[in-house]
Amino acid sequence: MSMRNHATDLLHKRKAGEVALLENWFLRRQHFHIENVTGLHALVRGLLRCTGLHKRGERNARALRVNAYTVTLPGLPRAFHHYRLLHLSDVHIDGVTGLTQVLCEQLSGIHADACVFTGDFRYKTSGPCTSMVRYMEKVVRHIHAPDGMYGVLGNHDAYEEVAALEHLGIRMLMNAALPLRRAGETVWLAGIDDPHYYECDDLESACASVPPGACSILLAHSPERYAEAAARGIALYLCGHTHAGQMCIPHLGALMVNARCPRAYAAGRWQHGRMQGFTNAGAGCSCVQARFGCPPEIALLELHCAEVEQGSA
Ligand SMILES: [Fe+2]
Repeated sequence: MSMRNHATDLLHKRKAGEVALLENWFLRRQHFHIENVTGLHALVRGLLRCTGLHKRGERNARALRVNAYTVTLPGLPRAFHHYRLLHLSDVHIDGVTGLTQVLCEQLSGIHADACVFTGDFRYKTSGPCTSMVRYMEKVVRHIHAPDGMYGVLGNHDAYEEVAALEHLGIRMLMNAALPLRRAGETVWLAGIDDPHYYECDDLESACASVPPGACSILLAHSPERYAEAAARGIALYLCGHTHAGQMCIPHLGALMVNARCPRAYAAGRWQHGRMQGFTNAGAGCSCVQARFGCPPEIALLELHCAEVEQGSA
């Protein structure tokens, strides 16, 4: 079976919302995903309870931080100097008890220009999306971003979420791009569908409307398309998925990052060639409601124009 057929079949499964119920043995084998192994989640939960760490892990999971970053981009139009992007990822909003309230409180104090979501809105990988949508409705009411909210789907998300999230005001970029305009200048915001599990991403289609040489920002669920994006001339790659490990051991780091990319690209800021990247640690949790050694985050990215900074140096 060709990869194209894989993608088509998986897209069909995504549309049907049957992520965890892949009937085809070949697809299931090719697309094994630890987040779908519910027995393992129960084992981890049991281990945390036996060791008395579950309460601390749950507290850590709600200890959401707002982290501010400055990203200096060559070629960023001058009108976008100091542009503020609120970046949320992996909210898994129906997964952590009390997270919605904490998130709303934190978001109330943030004033950005635009807001971007890099996938994994819901906790489970299958079933109805109704509780996720209900929680997200509260979250978006606390987002202050006059230039709009934009998003892509992750491996936990189902295709039917697109209409529901757009109804909440989040413009979903399904292998598509749109211009952000400011004072007559433009930055292109492109988004690809999940490159990690469904592999329905299509960078070529996503960038089809982006003029050659234009400054472009890519939204992707995981960092796994870093090489292709850098080759296309993307200026900034924003993603999540890894949760920065979710469980990290002091001095050793993440137990696993669950992404086919260099470890350096699995958390925080990184650079590949001329392209800059940022992998958000995520606001929520998957598999278990617990975090150790890598707090959940809301990222506030302030874009700086390299040429303006050089001029003022
Ligand atoms: Fe994910």
